[in-house]
Amino acid sequence: MLNDKSILITGGTGSLGQALTKTILEKWPNVKRLVIYSRDEQKQFQMAQEFPPEKYPAIRFLIGDVRDLDRMKRAFNGVDYVIHAAAMKHVHIAEYNPDECVKTNIGGAENVIKAALSCSVKHVVALSTDKACAPINLYGATKLASDKLFVAANNITGEQDVKFSVVRYGNVMGSNGSVMPFFLKKREGGVLPITDPNMTRFNISLADGVKMVLHAMEHAWGGELFVPKIPSYRITDIAEAIGPDCEHPVVGIRPGEKIHEEMITSSDSFTTYDLGEYYAILPQVPNWDIESYKKHFNAELVEQGFNYSSGENEDFLNVGELQKLIDDHVVTS
Ligand SMILES: NC(=O)c1ccc[n+]([C@@H]2O[C@H](COP(=O)([O-])OP(=O)(O)OC[C@H]3O[C@@H](n4cnc5c(N)ncnc54)[C@H](OP(=O)(O)O)[C@@H]3O)[C@@H](O)[C@H]2O)c1
Repeated sequence: MLNDKSILITGGTGSLGQALTKTILEKWPNVKRLVIYSRDEQKQFQMAQEFPPEKYPAIRFLIGDVRDLDRMKRAFNGVDYVIHAAAMKHVHIAEYNPDECVKTNIGGAENVIKAALSCSVKHVVALSTDKACAPINLYGATKLASDKLFVAANNITGEQDVKFSVVRYGNVMGSNGSVMPFFLKKREGGVLPITDPNMTRFNISLADGVKMVLHAMEHAWGGELFVPKIPSYRITDIAEAIGPDCEHPVVGIRPGEKIHEEMITSSDSFTTYDLGEYYAILPQVPNWDIESYKKHFNAELVEQGFNYSSGENEDFLNVGELQKLIDDHVVTS
């Protein structure tokens, strides 16, 4: 799919961006150009050690901010696919610096769309999060606005052959700031603080996140918001898996947190289709024929009122399964 194509990843030095880079370079050795677009030169310098341009001649590192439209238009020149992963993603930092979060997550999304349209990009896949579903914090709200911008962008393409789609998933196992590395670090002190004993979360590996982005790049018709079918875990089971002999005091939920995360609300159920491995929330007004879509993907409309929440999930990881996943995937830095 990507041999002879040019790809740009905004936020390419982040955890998803780096994992995508590795997969793309391994799977499509004849990719024409893979552009990493982000702000911090140090992160790019470090990434270039891992992906040296001598070994990977297709890779390019461009310093730039998603808030800077002119720079993005230059960067998008000749690019076929854009993966938009750049974001401010820490809930409490976004609450404390709301204007900055709006500029990056909403203004950045607008700029990606404008630059893609002006440079005749073929397909843009934007990253969303479970926190964008019925959001209760600014991070989630800005990502919901971003999702809406990308879905609606399919209606302003005119004669251009460009598609915009969205991939939404939950907590990436072991990613920076997530509970698993936090508990692993705390274990030595003998105390693992539990915010709320009823709390649940979705769980996805970085590899499955990458797979989903590539699925969207290959199969989207434009305007879909893809959601993976993934298991949940109870926060108390993570504590049990990591420190069964530690104290587990309940410290209370933090501002902006939910007890359970959602990825599809019952109001979305009217346009949500089961595609087998994934759900897709389809646009209210698609610019393609819905019956052809259903037939092509064997897509089935979910039941009215269906909602996909980490608390009501049918699939939960038990303590033993969590222990194995943590041993295999989570590293502390
Ligand atoms: N990690 C999770 O658990 C999770 C779960 C669901 C969804 N997501 C979504 O997945 C996407 C990728 O997440 P991640 O975990 O890979 O994030 P990450 O590791 O924090 O990486 C963020 C990337 O964005 C870049 N960036 C931030 N602000 C930028 C700006 N204004 N202009 C250009 N680049 C900017 C950062 O580099 P510089 O700072 O150098 O610019 C970095 O490369 C995000 O959209 C996030 O919302 C993540």
